[in-house]
Amino acid sequence: MSRKIEQTLSIIKPDAVERNLVNEIKEIFLKNNLIIKDSKKIHITKEEAAEFYKVHQSKPFYNDLCTYLSSGPIVVMILEGENAILNNRKLMGSTNPKDAEEKTIRKLYGISIDKNSVHGSDSMENAKKEIEFFFK
Ligand code: CDP
Ligand code: MG
Repeated sequence: MSRKIEQTLSIIKPDAVERNLVNEIKEIFLKNNLIIKDSKKIHITKEEAAEFYKVHQSKPFYNDLCTYLSSGPIVVMILEGENAILNNRKLMGSTNPKDAEEKTIRKLYGISIDKNSVHGSDSMENAKKEIEFFFK
């Protein structure tokens, strides 16, 4: 059996930081075979959010999304573990908390499709880029 140790980028979004959910969310990662290799609390500008989310620039929600991500402090983390990218995506749950599976972070804590508490890289390529964006 081959073991694929990966790194992925996780963000705890403003709605969850504001409600003091950082430790609870970190616990979920730690209990599910993810190591937190690095973590920092930052408050990004709208321009930085626009750069980070530029894959979504043609979407109708892009402007609100960038305003939102820059509206308050966030916690950015490098998570590491076996199949970390998919593992994290499963722990997060569906984009819309209403559709998220039981016990996922978005089901437990998400407020709405925009205030959905967490971000996670969706591919190896994006994980690399996103880690680079915040940590290099
Ligand atoms: O975060 P995830 O990868 O699950 O979803 P996405 O499709 O990559 O969208 C990025 C983010 O945009 C989501 O996490 C939502 O916060 C936001 N979004 C939104 O506000 N309205 C939508 N209809 C879709 C996404
Ligand atoms: Mg995405």
